[in-house]
Amino acid sequence: MAKAKRYFFCRECGYQSSSWLGRCPECGKWNTFDEEVVQRETPSIRQSAVGGQQSEPVRIEEVKYDETVRMQTHCEEFDRVLGGGIVPGSLLLLGGEPGIGKSTLLLQTALAMKGKRLLYVSGEESEQQIKMRADRIGEPQGEMYVVSETSTKRIFEHIEAVKPELLIVDSIQTISSEDIDSSAGSISQIRECTTLFQHYAKQTGVPVLLIGHITKDGTLAGPKVMEHIVDAVLQFEGDRNYGFRILRALKNRFGSTAELGIFEMLNSGLREVPNPSEILLSQRDETLSGSAVSATLEGARPIFIEVQSLVSSAVYGTPQRNANGFDFRRLSMLLAVLEKRCGFKLGAKDVFLNIAGGLRVSDPAIDLAVACSILSSNVDIPIPPTVCMAAEMGLNGEIRPVTRVEQRIAEAGRLGFEKIFVSRYNTKGLDKKKYPIEIVELAVIEDAFRKLFA
Ligand code: TYD
Ligand code: MG
Repeated sequence: MAKAKRYFFCRECGYQSSSWLGRCPECGKWNTFDEEVVQRETPSIRQSAVGGQQSEPVRIEEVKYDETVRMQTHCEEFDRVLGGGIVPGSLLLLGGEPGIGKSTLLLQTALAMKGKRLLYVSGEESEQQIKMRADRIGEPQGEMYVVSETSTKRIFEHIEAVKPELLIVDSIQTISSEDIDSSAGSISQIRECTTLFQHYAKQTGVPVLLIGHITKDGTLAGPKVMEHIVDAVLQFEGDRNYGFRILRALKNRFGSTAELGIFEMLNSGLREVPNPSEILLSQRDETLSGSAVSATLEGARPIFIEVQSLVSSAVYGTPQRNANGFDFRRLSMLLAVLEKRCGFKLGAKDVFLNIAGGLRVSDPAIDLAVACSILSSNVDIPIPPTVCMAAEMGLNGEIRPVTRVEQRIAEAGRLGFEKIFVSRYNTKGLDKKKYPIEIVELAVIEDAFRKLFA
């Protein structure tokens, strides 16, 4: 029996140290070190655990692979985010806050897999609980096995018996290996178990989907230390008070990270939302001030999003600022520009910003809609519901061009908008007559102010 060793691990990034440290030298976070007892296993144990084989160097020309073998999940949104399906032998991590719908998404995907044999391992729920949930969602389309298990040794025995074509593990924080002394969910356990599944996936070609919980404050150890081991990191997010859920790839070795999948959580599971704009815009009230529509692009897809602002006189000495679904620092920057250029009296106002539907937007083209919604609430004049906008705003209040403006304009026309506000620098070579929508060109933010509120 090897001697037990103790190490300290950073909860944030997994940095390993032989002594306790106040500040992590890797990620710079304070007070994140936990002690764990680690049993160094002999390499032979690890190899036998996954039926290890010797590998030989091969000339690259002689390496064979089949291009068409991506496994389709029969869920278009999921496939899109993966880059066209699951690559054989890949290890995927699905992260997200507890209760956001990770188990539901993978269970639903598993049920929909036609003609495949798969194994769903849960360390969180019993077989009966999984079945109860599955009954709400639908009938299995393939051969699906479920097992409630937390030990890697037993899991690999089950795998040996079932010989699945796809393995799902819910969640990595509940699984533990006997070779390591620390408890399930600790950094060393997570790292070890992830590595075991990685070896299994690479050697057998069976893709493995792991679920990993993340919390906003990072108190749960985890997914960060797995990020470099797995082939793709998918994140499931959304505001729990709204039905919308977004699936995005934070890392993907086999596809782009720009694509997004959008779902709606219903009583019967997750529904794919192929055309989010129509839903997001249908709930608009046409006469209220403080609301503006942005023509954003997420991945290759245009999504029209409503931005809402509330500007009011500050009741307390320090004005309050709040941004939901938008970067707080960027909001501060936009407010400073508005103060300088549009006479917006920042110091005496509370500003609350909300992106409708609980979505989170990273496309900078939303800037103009954010700025205009703030101005609209400030002067209490509504922006006509037939107007949408797509432009970035610079530090001097200049309205800057955005990528693929033609696509945004065309989509705005299709959705029935009558005017789209874009940057003057975005319209070179654009055949305006081609579009059934008026294209309004702006150079600085004052232009938008004059056109909307003067
Ligand atoms: P779950 O998949 O258990 O979340 P996670 O695995 O990320 O922790 O989903 C939890 C929430 O989803 C739960 O609060 C109830 C809701 N839900 C529905 O609204 N409809 C459904 O069909 C299912 C299965 C869950
Ligand atoms: Mg779960």
